[in-house]
Parts: sequence; C-alpha cells; structure tokens
Amino acid sequence: MEYLLEVKDLKTHFYTKKGVIKSVNGISYGLKRGQTLSIVGESGSGKSVSVLSIMRLLPTYAKVDGEIIFEGNNLLNYDDRKMKKIRGNHISMIFQDPMSSLNPTVKIGQQIMEPLLWHHKASKREARQKAIQMLTEVGIPSAKERFDQYPFEFSGGMRQRVMIAMALISEPELLIADEPTTSLDVTVQAQILQLIRKIQERRGTSVILITHNLAVATMVSDYIVVMYGGRIVEKATTKEFLKNPLHPYTLGLLNSTPILKSRKSLNPIPGQPPDLRKLKDVGCPFAKRCSKKMPRCEVENPPEIKVSNTHNVYCWLYV
Ligand SMILES: Nc1ncnc2c1ncn2[C@@H]1O[C@H](COP(=O)(O)OP(=O)(O)O)[C@@H](O)[C@H]1O
Ligand code: SF4
Ligand SMILES: [Mg+2]
Repeated sequence: MEYLLEVKDLKTHFYTKKGVIKSVNGISYGLKRGQTLSIVGESGSGKSVSVLSIMRLLPTYAKVDGEIIFEGNNLLNYDDRKMKKIRGNHISMIFQDPMSSLNPTVKIGQQIMEPLLWHHKASKREARQKAIQMLTEVGIPSAKERFDQYPFEFSGGMRQRVMIAMALISEPELLIADEPTTSLDVTVQAQILQLIRKIQERRGTSVILITHNLAVATMVSDYIVVMYGGRIVEKATTKEFLKNPLHPYTLGLLNSTPILKSRKSLNPIPGQPPDLRKLKDVGCPFAKRCSKKMPRCEVENPPEIKVSNTHNVYCWLYV
C-alpha cells in the first residue's frame, strides 16, 4: 500500500536565547492511506513538536530539517502560501484543549463552516448545510439549533466533537489528533476515540494520534511509534508491538499501563524523562533510566535493528 505521509529523518531544534533545544532528533516513519498511527511517549518526548513540524505551526526560531513527503511532495519545500492551502484542507489538526482552539465570541456553526469558506470549497448555503450534517455526524443532538450557539453553551466533550467536525468538514486526507481526549473523563474519551475511528473508516482518512496512554494506542491504531528524548526508540505494527515488544522503554511503558496489566502489578518506570536541553547527541537517550544499560550505551548511538519489515527497535541489546 502506498504511503500518504512519509517522515524522513525529521529534526526540529529551537534556537532560544538560553541555548538550543533539540526536541526532535532524526525520526522517520510512514503512514499508509486509511490507517491510524499512534505516537506514544511520556510528556516532553517531542511528540507535539514532531507533528507541529508537519503542519509548520512553529515559531520562527525553530529550525526543521529532513523530509515530510505528503502525497509525493516534500512539505518542507512549501512556502507559507502553499502551506495555508494544505492546513485545514488536506491536513487538519485537533488539539488537547478544545476551548483554546475555539473562538468564544463566534457562533459554533460559523466556526465549523470556516474551513470550507476559507478554501472556497462551498457557497455559504452549502457550507451551512454541510456544517449541520457534520455536527450530526459527530453526534451533536439538535444540530440545527446548536449551530447558532456559542462555545460556552457546550460541555467539554461536546466542544471536542465540534473540533472534530471542524477538522473533518473539508474532508482532509490526514487528521492529526494531539492528545484529543486528555482533558475529558474516561467515558467521554472512549466515545470520542470511537467517533474518530468510525468517521475514519467511513471516509478513509489517515490519522496520526498522539497519546501518552499506551492502552489507547493499542486499541485504536494500526501502527505504533514510541518516542523518547526526541527520538524513536521502537516502531511496529500494533500486532507485532503487542506480541514482541523489545525496547526497555517500551517494556517499561507496558508495565506501567493499566488495562493491559492489573493495577496491582503496575510498575512505573523509575526516574524522570530527560531535559532536552541537557541531552547529549551521542548515546542512548534512555540510558540514565535503563536497568539493562551497558558501557557502550552512553557513548554510542544505538543502531537500528530490523526485527521485521514493519518492526524496528533502536537498542544495543539486540545487536
Ligand atoms: N516553542 C517552543 N520553544 C522552545 N522549546 C519548545 C517549544 N515547544 C516545545 N519545546 C520543547 O520541546 C520539547 C518537546 O516538547 P513536546 O513536543 O511538546 O513534548 P510532548 O508533546 O511529547 O509532551 C520540550 O522539552 C519543550 O520544552
Ligand atoms: S541501548 Fe542500552 S541503555 Fe538504551 S535501551 Fe538499549 S540497553 Fe538500555
Ligand atoms: Mg504534547
């Protein structure tokens, strides 16, 4: 199957007054059409920065290198004008906090129609019709009446549904969801993820889901990418990932994930995620917390081990 998106050796570094922050350090993965890829890892591992690099929603002091091949074209060669045509049209993004992404002073319906009107994809009448249809599709009851309400009149879960409607109305090929359910309670989280899955299946949309919840990732995705300290430490199809997880960090995540383990046997990974400002360029980023560490781990970058065509791990244990 052909890739919709191929990220190749992506590096994103922030040049701040206090020094360089190397948030993403040479990550590569491919996403096939109609599939879901999850990026998992603790907070601060570079997950958000990696997808904001795809969308090019970064401050000017960020330097992005590598290739982001979307439908055969390298987005890193696109200028602002071309990227504006891509964003919200071919690639849409939903964020963790729906309130900060919705304009509190503009009616919900108006905000949902925006991508269609902005990209001249529909007349106002058609856009209104589509917006009401989309609101219904994401499970908002009485969509016609709700169209003229303001964000504060919606609950957190309903606002997240509105964000999904807004992201999908222009029928993007790729939906990026960055921790889309973290601020919601567990039942609503499950509903929202099911909704994304359902719409994805119906429309054939590809999805990148960022989550720090490994259980969620294994439930909804075809492929899993584990990030640590701005690098990928393991990537595999969900099936291979569950059957044969290899990287000590992956094993640590699995051991500390409820649902997959009984609460009694949960073991959190000792230590703290690394401070990216202090992380060295050479050696394994996980070395400080790894119980299997060997002398070479801290001085040589771990090699890429091909477990199969669809499973790679970056660790000296498997040489
Ligand atoms: N705009 C920015 N300027 C400088 N550093 C940033 C910026 N955005 C993120 N970072 C740094 O990049 C690192 C990775 O952040 P992020 O991708 O948000 O992590 P995650 O999404 O995995 O929790 C963090 O250490 C953060 O401080
Ligand atoms: S490379 Fe070494 S330190 Fe890193 S995860 Fe593997 S064994 Fe642990
Ligand atoms: Mg994040």
